[in-house]
Amino acid sequence: MSLIVAIDGPSASGKSTVSRKVAALLDYIYVDSGSLYRGLTWKVIQEQVSSRDQDAVVCVMENMRMVFFLDAGAVRFTIDGEKPGIELRSEQVLENVSAVAAMPPVRIWIVRQLREMKRFGNLVMEGRDIGTVVFPATPYKFYLDADSEERVRRRHRELMERKVESEIGDVRHSLLRRDAIDKGRQTAPLKKAPGAHVIETTSMSVNDVANHIVNAVLTRKRNVRTVVREKAPLLFKCSRCIVKICLKICFRYRSCGLDQVPQDGGCLIASNHASHLDPLIICCSVMHRYIRFMARNTLFKNRLFLWWSKNVGIVTVDRGRGDVAALKAAIAILKSGGVVCVFPEGTRTRDGRLQEAKGGVGFLMAKAGVPVVPVYIDGTFEAFPKGAKRIKSHKVMVSYGKPIFPSELDRFGKGKDAYKKIADLLMARIAELQL
Ligand code: DC
Repeated sequence: MSLIVAIDGPSASGKSTVSRKVAALLDYIYVDSGSLYRGLTWKVIQEQVSSRDQDAVVCVMENMRMVFFLDAGAVRFTIDGEKPGIELRSEQVLENVSAVAAMPPVRIWIVRQLREMKRFGNLVMEGRDIGTVVFPATPYKFYLDADSEERVRRRHRELMERKVESEIGDVRHSLLRRDAIDKGRQTAPLKKAPGAHVIETTSMSVNDVANHIVNAVLTRKRNVRTVVREKAPLLFKCSRCIVKICLKICFRYRSCGLDQVPQDGGCLIASNHASHLDPLIICCSVMHRYIRFMARNTLFKNRLFLWWSKNVGIVTVDRGRGDVAALKAAIAILKSGGVVCVFPEGTRTRDGRLQEAKGGVGFLMAKAGVPVVPVYIDGTFEAFPKGAKRIKSHKVMVSYGKPIFPSELDRFGKGKDAYKKIADLLMARIAELQL
């Protein structure tokens, strides 16, 4: 029996890229259900029929021959022997497709085609109604969402990459118009399917979302308990190599207890913070894992640096407000088997002493449900403290302590006070490593 992963969501929520990636990771067949609606719209335009005239559209649909075949892990089709290809993404198709997709006879016919695709094997199918109408019985249902301004930016960026001239205002207008039609139509409107797993992708990368889905699918399958290990991007690996060479030249840094950081699965690394050198040293000592650092967004004002931070996977935090989106992104990374590193004190120490932890880290620990490795870094305060202009050569020692496991946190319960107590427990474990 085929297994179906249904991924629904509004335009530019990241469905296509994520679904392709999920299909590749699981080795399932990828189906872009929207391409069938676009294919029919393309044919309707070719036949010079109005996309508002339902009878004429149905007549085109009944007289055309759509043939499906597998190509490079995806289901594709020809219409009357022709491959519409890139024309499926043309402005004209885009302008007319929502109207065609809102016609009940069109939906009935396309849903039937989509259901029959089970014959190709296990599928990752993306669309608007896959979890609600096409395969409502599948237990693997996901709904991707993102802030509408972020979706406008994504769509605008995608158009620019395809060298399609567009004004951001026009992109916004077209996207919101399509949202309204997709959500407001009578038949199979876009909505979250009951039981679907909602993923808010605004501040998540494609890899994070895809890993999250793959892990949810694998975990649910129960008999397959493999955890996907996040692959470090090339830029991260190269940056780490360069930094490691520089650190080796400037310092003698040693680490102990590195085996406390698990080889696989989600793990939070939490360290004291005395210097800008701290993340670099942690990154270069935990060579067996790809680490995602949480860092304040004001560090990346420079455009090049901002680009770099995004591409090495830094989770930026807006410290001006309680950045719930950043915390959610970190939780998603941890739950999908990744490693996140935080500095619970929030800022570098001014006098070399440990400071109080922020409650947010307690929330992160309570919600992520992964082992937390406390870390104490000794010597970076002497080498490069806050406000220093130059780095001094100094011995640095990084100690990794025994993890705090989720079961240890159960006794604290929930709520602000509980999160603060959890954060305090973490600082106490970090302090123990000082001795
Ligand atoms: O995902 P997309 O932009 O390629 O979708 C094109 C159109 O088809 C869009 O207006 C929504 C519609 N559609 C739908 O109604 N149901 C689906 N399962 C997929 C797409």
